[in-house]
Amino acid sequence: MKSLWQYECKLPSFESLKGDISTDVLIIGGGIAGILTAYKLCEKGINCVLLEKDRICRKTTAHTTAKITAQHGFIYHKILKSYDKDYAKAYYTAHKRAAEKLMSLCSEAGCNIEIKDNFVYSNDRYKIEKELEALSKIGVPYLYKDNVPLPVKAAGAIGFSNEAQFNPLELINHISQKLRIFENTKVEEMLGTTAKTNKGKVKAKKVVVATHFPFINKHGSYFLKLYQHRSYILALANAEAPKEMFVDNDKKGLSFSSFGELLLLGSGGHRTGKQGGNYNELRQFKDKHYPHSKEVFRWAAQDTISLDAVAYIGNYSKNTPDLYVATGFNKWGMTNSMLSADIISSDILGKPKEYAEVFSPSRCIIKPQLFLNSFESIKNLLTPTTKRCPHLGCALKYNKAEHSWDCPCHGSRFSEAGKILDGPAN
Ligand code: FES
Repeated sequence: MKSLWQYECKLPSFESLKGDISTDVLIIGGGIAGILTAYKLCEKGINCVLLEKDRICRKTTAHTTAKITAQHGFIYHKILKSYDKDYAKAYYTAHKRAAEKLMSLCSEAGCNIEIKDNFVYSNDRYKIEKELEALSKIGVPYLYKDNVPLPVKAAGAIGFSNEAQFNPLELINHISQKLRIFENTKVEEMLGTTAKTNKGKVKAKKVVVATHFPFINKHGSYFLKLYQHRSYILALANAEAPKEMFVDNDKKGLSFSSFGELLLLGSGGHRTGKQGGNYNELRQFKDKHYPHSKEVFRWAAQDTISLDAVAYIGNYSKNTPDLYVATGFNKWGMTNSMLSADIISSDILGKPKEYAEVFSPSRCIIKPQLFLNSFESIKNLLTPTTKRCPHLGCALKYNKAEHSWDCPCHGSRFSEAGKILDGPAN
């Protein structure tokens, strides 16, 4: 299903690879994270090639809510439960700077960008107090509202000022034309830092895996460190939209934002391969609270979720100095993509890597989510059904809302005819 962003902006197309080539840096994956990384490296004169197995920015980048913010739910209290104050402050500063860089890149490119405040609301007073305490402790400026102007139950909302929303494809359209990109070129195997594709080989000195869910299983244990989550969005005409962006801190809650004249309403989320509210839940809410509105667009997003709500950006594993990864953006792909481009390009260029430790993919993985992910994998590996996922063999579940077969282990998805819709299955 095409998103609003895809209707508003058509991207350029690129040829497939033809035969064997060499490059300094190979980037695998043509979403916004891969394209920004290629753009930063090319700006510095590095010879760079990007391979995309389908067309660029057709998946997560095209199906995001496209919010540029350093406020990722009530994350600062969550981070302080596992890490110290300096870590939490570094997380904030890194994302705030990434947001500013992204906004200035959009302005330079002449993209339409809407600056607005972002709020996270909750009906749980205790959680609000804890997040306010965390923000004060690390010295982050915030806004606060007792009354949330939305048809939801909320005890209050915490906000960050001057965040933004944009059409990410407009930026991609501008910057991708300067890059060496090959579309419809699928990496089938990695032989060190040489990629064997269906159209030829690419020999590189450094490789960046920006494929949403990392597809190389023998390093980094990403099949334990990540799961995937689906969520649903309706774009409504003739519905009163708030001036600011709002999202519920509760994973099952709603998100409200606007773009132009449209209200963007998001919810219905669930772990990929599990049952969830999907479009039905959103339509019931629309009929009750916006009875005169009209559904103009609908789309679903697939996000990778890390163990501790912080992205994995940097070396793929401790033993792979020439292999990098950018993943686990936890639904906050815009600033995390800019951050990935900064951290990875700085390392390749031999410059100091600010905040690299915070996002290191090799940080400790002993977190409660690790046990939940492992339990889910074992349960679905032992489930005796015939439709199995080619990634690591879990039983697939039918998704009635989208007519697809989805894997609850790591989130691969397949059409009814068996065509791959989402990885990590390759
Ligand atoms: Fe890993 Fe299905 S996605 S087993």
